[in-house]
Amino acid sequence: MYLRNTWYALARRDELGDSLSPFTVLSERIVAFRRSDGTPAAIEDACPHRKLPLSMGRREGDTIVCGYHGLTFDGTGSCVAAPTQAMIPSTAKVKCYPLADKWGLVWIWMGDPAGADMAKIIAIDNHGSPGWTLTNGDSMVCGCNYLYLTDNLLDPSHVAWVHVTSFAAPGTESTPLEVKATDSGVVVSRWMLDRPVPPFYAPLVKFEGNCDRLQHYEVRYPALGINMSIYTPAGQGGAGKQLPADAYRMVSYHFLTPVDDTTTRYFWLQHRNTDADNAEITAQVAAGARRAFEEDRIILEAVQKGMAAKTSPHLDLALDAGALRFRRNLQALIDKERAAAKS
Ligand code: FES
Ligand SMILES: [Fe+2]
Repeated sequence: MYLRNTWYALARRDELGDSLSPFTVLSERIVAFRRSDGTPAAIEDACPHRKLPLSMGRREGDTIVCGYHGLTFDGTGSCVAAPTQAMIPSTAKVKCYPLADKWGLVWIWMGDPAGADMAKIIAIDNHGSPGWTLTNGDSMVCGCNYLYLTDNLLDPSHVAWVHVTSFAAPGTESTPLEVKATDSGVVVSRWMLDRPVPPFYAPLVKFEGNCDRLQHYEVRYPALGINMSIYTPAGQGGAGKQLPADAYRMVSYHFLTPVDDTTTRYFWLQHRNTDADNAEITAQVAAGARRAFEEDRIILEAVQKGMAAKTSPHLDLALDAGALRFRRNLQALIDKERAAAKS
């Protein structure tokens, strides 16, 4: 059901501290904490004895003491004490998950730990380049399957109806879409030429009048959205053109972590190439993103319920081509991974 050999965002960095924090990822219950040296640790949130969540126990140094009979586990999942008896049972251990801190997030590797290479965490192009600024990022819980979110992040058309006061502008409802599969995911994109700048971007771009606008909606396997917007004064943008060096660029990164079949944790960051030191604009971008993603959440939670209860035939539209290609390719990767795990 899920791709496992990949990094998922587990938590914002500020969410993980000394206390025992329970999470559910891919329907697995996990307890995470930071060791005294600051490194994060995550183990299965179930004591092997009577399956009491270890998150109901207590920290003792860098270990967790079970709240029922005191079996004690370190951050690697090894049992280091069994106070009620002389010997530690050989089967008293829990699963351990590799973690990594990057981009203000704590990432978790859900597959074979041998493959947990930090270099596989998504790169943020231009990070640290002069003039570029990253927001601190934010997150929410969305009551839908993560694939409704990947559908949404490969669907530039919905902005015309869902984001009326932010990303919508004439052209967003009907300009044809280009769909391209890459080695890492699917891209749905389009240039809209000589159109008004939408409300969210109007105060951010550095020119007056109409714009040429690129919507680049990309989702990489299994659930990493990269949504790039480029704005130039009308006449200077368009497919295959050399863009002006000062073209306005905003890249929204979306990291989707399946909690279970009907719940997703949604993390995001915004990266832009203007007003690098302007904290007010950074706050405005962050607040605008949150507002817009709340609009998506309301739609997608209702879609989850509507699709679960549907009694009429399924209908896809031309706009779904990218999302459907993504779903098919992801399913093939999941099937391949499962076949390899069985062999
Ligand atoms: S349930 Fe944890 S030690 Fe008994
Ligand atoms: Fe949206």
